[in-house]
Amino acid sequence: MMQLERSGHTRSTEIDLALFGALGDLAQRKLFPALFQLECEGLLAPSTRLLGLARQALDLQGFVTQVESALRTYVKAEELDAKALKRFKARLDYRQLDFTTVDGYTAIRDWRQDGLERPMVVYLSVGAKLYGDICRHLEASGSLDDQCRVVVEKPIGSGLESSAEINDAIGAVFPESRIYRIDHYLGKETVQNLIALRFANPLFGTQWNQNHISHVEVTVAEKVGIEGRWGYFDEAGQLRDMVQNHLLQLVCLIAMDPPANLDADAIRDEKVKVLKALKPFTEDMLGRDVVRGQYMAGSIDGQSVPGYLEEDEANTESQTETFVAMRTEVANWRWAGVPFYLRTGKRMPEKLSQIVIHFRQQPHYIFDPDQRGLAANKLVIRLQPEEGIALEVLTKDSGLDKGMRLRRGPLHLDFNSAFPKARIPDAYERLLLEVMKGQQYLFVRRDEVEHAWQWCDSLIAAWADRDEAPRRYPAGSWGPVASIAMITQDGRSWYEDY
Ligand code: BG6
Repeated sequence: MMQLERSGHTRSTEIDLALFGALGDLAQRKLFPALFQLECEGLLAPSTRLLGLARQALDLQGFVTQVESALRTYVKAEELDAKALKRFKARLDYRQLDFTTVDGYTAIRDWRQDGLERPMVVYLSVGAKLYGDICRHLEASGSLDDQCRVVVEKPIGSGLESSAEINDAIGAVFPESRIYRIDHYLGKETVQNLIALRFANPLFGTQWNQNHISHVEVTVAEKVGIEGRWGYFDEAGQLRDMVQNHLLQLVCLIAMDPPANLDADAIRDEKVKVLKALKPFTEDMLGRDVVRGQYMAGSIDGQSVPGYLEEDEANTESQTETFVAMRTEVANWRWAGVPFYLRTGKRMPEKLSQIVIHFRQQPHYIFDPDQRGLAANKLVIRLQPEEGIALEVLTKDSGLDKGMRLRRGPLHLDFNSAFPKARIPDAYERLLLEVMKGQQYLFVRRDEVEHAWQWCDSLIAAWADRDEAPRRYPAGSWGPVASIAMITQDGRSWYEDY
């Protein structure tokens, strides 16, 4: 049951879904559109019902209108099939609920009466501070049985200690086998492809270690700023918001050993080993191995944008980072001595998530000495915007005058042009489908969250000791100059072929 499917989609099993925070940004922008796409693909079981829960007083018609308007905004017009929309709207129900007191929760229990034979999935699209209360109230009101699953969003806490408290509160009601911690990067098609690429291709299987790979780059760059989320973001910062979860999950999938099979726990056990092997930060590593940045006003796509400290509701003294670059190492037999360069930031010139695996050069070089720098293969795995994989290889340059000059070019697999009919599903479509099917391999286990926090806490503590302001970078640039210096001091540069 827990095993990753080897042979494609099946319709989700019959479930009911109760969505806390149903009028919030994530639900409207991502969750309803994703559920609707599952409807269009025929992947929602006919009896599945969707209950929206939020604080606002709204009747069912008002809620349905709101969901429909979200779908019209966030689903492409040509994908908004009228029949599917009608079926989808018929599944919806709504209850107004104050999440913090147990009183109204019997409404969920009563709603379930019609569907007791089906498991209920409870999706908490609300701040993590509420997770404990909601779980307790669900239990106290008799809304749960031993088939119910709970889905929670990151970030879980702001460090190891607070995350343990939140995990304890959820764990007091739900066993680990029924807790689904979302990291939406794990639902992205190309991220899952890392598993296929690494473990289905013997070519990479034999090369994937420190004997053949010189270094690894992971870039997750965003054009957007903090999008009106000052309150949340200023407490979190880019390390907690992006590195602790998304970037470390990518590092795990790149660095993990082959799992014995595709069981959720076999995969997650291997990921945990990577997290445990990450070298902790100490204060003396800060200047050399880590760069914190914060964006100033600048311009993106020709439009002026304000600096972080000028955003709405900004605390103009804030020292929160909106950019982090770091060099780290997975200290084990496979990876010892291979730097992993990570960088992520807001207000960069491009939206780009990309992994670059740099292979080592040949031991003996026989071509033009001027071209020596070219002579290594790179595997470029692009997660977004255009999903694809390119292997940079060297061939002979064509032409009578070129002799044995080398030319670098990609063996290129662009998913959109290679498989034009295949719509690339949004990460949330896959994740919701997997929860409904009761499969946990794309969700983060408690020990993963905690080891990731432990490592980030070492950096947060080192930053606190040093008490240094983040380095400024203009919006629309690739971050502080120091992040370029960090990698050039190793005789390398960030991959720039976008
Ligand atoms: C979220 C972060 O988890 O991921 C946001 O909280 C960030 O700050 C977003 O913008 C990026 O996701 P994606 O899928 O657009 O790369």
